[in-house]
Amino acid sequence: MNATDNFRDRALQFFPGGSNGEYGIPEGDAPVLERGQGCRVWDTEGREYLDMTMAWGAVLVGHAHPKVLEAAAAAASKGANFAAVNRPMVELAERIADLSPCAERIRFVASGTEATMLCLRTARATTGRPKILKFEGAYHGQYPEGVTSLVGSDLPELPQPDSSGTGAPSVERDVLVAPYNDLASTRKILTDYSDELAAVIVEPLHRCIPPVDGFLQGLREATTRLGIVLVFDEVVTGFRLALGGAQEYYGVSPDLVAYGKGLGGGFPIGAFGGRTDVMEAVNEQRLPGPNYAWSASTTGGNPVSSAAALAAIDVYNESGVYDRLHAMGRRFREQLDQALDQAGETAQVLGDGPLAQAAFLDRPVQSHRDWLAADRDRGRAVMFELLRRGVFLNPMGTKLYLSLAHTEADLDEFTAHFAAALQSTRPQ
Ligand SMILES: Cc1ncc(COP(=O)(O)O)c(C=O)c1O
Repeated sequence: MNATDNFRDRALQFFPGGSNGEYGIPEGDAPVLERGQGCRVWDTEGREYLDMTMAWGAVLVGHAHPKVLEAAAAAASKGANFAAVNRPMVELAERIADLSPCAERIRFVASGTEATMLCLRTARATTGRPKILKFEGAYHGQYPEGVTSLVGSDLPELPQPDSSGTGAPSVERDVLVAPYNDLASTRKILTDYSDELAAVIVEPLHRCIPPVDGFLQGLREATTRLGIVLVFDEVVTGFRLALGGAQEYYGVSPDLVAYGKGLGGGFPIGAFGGRTDVMEAVNEQRLPGPNYAWSASTTGGNPVSSAAALAAIDVYNESGVYDRLHAMGRRFREQLDQALDQAGETAQVLGDGPLAQAAFLDRPVQSHRDWLAADRDRGRAVMFELLRRGVFLNPMGTKLYLSLAHTEADLDEFTAHFAAALQSTRPQ
């Protein structure tokens, strides 16, 4: 290989850590990807990988899906961006409003980060209150509230937030943190701070931890009673657990919802929406009133991403898609469980729908603190070994994303690698 073909070294020269963020792969070990098809990706050195992260879940339809590519190419040929309301954007808003129980009004942005961030801004403007409550360990995007109480290991007493990694000490003042799945503690925090709280934001499926019975319903009841805006971060669950996302799957509707990832079929997109009266906060006619929330995005809702999203929704609408995603996920989690049992590991497999995550500990995982008690070094060692064996994934998160392109044979292949990785990384 000559120097100019060595993309790993070239990446190392410019990207801090050689990455574009989050993978946590040792410097120089991260493959540089060149193409993808279905559930496979290839790096610049010609190596093929079985993809078990699928762009962190964004490519739920599978890489290079022909219908999505065709729609995006057709839209691009007419102009890639106008930074204005355009035809595919209107059609997409109509489709989302049909599918998403709470989305009476919608705005488009370009990422999940912007979508959840705008939900919080909208809630603050609507209520005139300063604070946000989030759940410990939740990730809502790259802005300060999105990463509050996510990466730190020195855990403060809740509801005190941990500002590690946020670069913004202001979160200490503006964010309260509750334990996921603990309705009694959450209710108490909500009641104690109700005068200051604008919003509660929750990943309905918290990372890979499902809600216990009544948790989301309890959040809905308490926030309604206290006049606090309930925000569902459906960046992961939207279009993945059901066509109507977690709202449909768990039967609970928030006031505001954020989408990203799977909506775009791989193209960059984000959307937020909700109750008309709350969404009115972003209406420019209110400018510069005190209850106005700034919302404007140069690339949000561009025709290429919107057309790709319309095509992706058509794919999700095909008959049997969600039965298949759920059946595949169940089978996959069972396979992983069996592999862990056979290897004599003490571990749990988390997840729902087409998502799975192994946690190396001896009891069920219901919250971030349970997750932190797991042997995460072991989890990472297994993930790195899988990467070495030709499985592409995110060793930091250890979350596995299935897609419509995965077949049972692909999952059997993964499970064989998983079993081998458990053996070869077994602590001596
Ligand atoms: C639940 C959740 N919300 C928001 C985001 C942020 O989305 P994006 O990376 O598109 O900004 C992510 C990304 O992983 C996520 O998992």
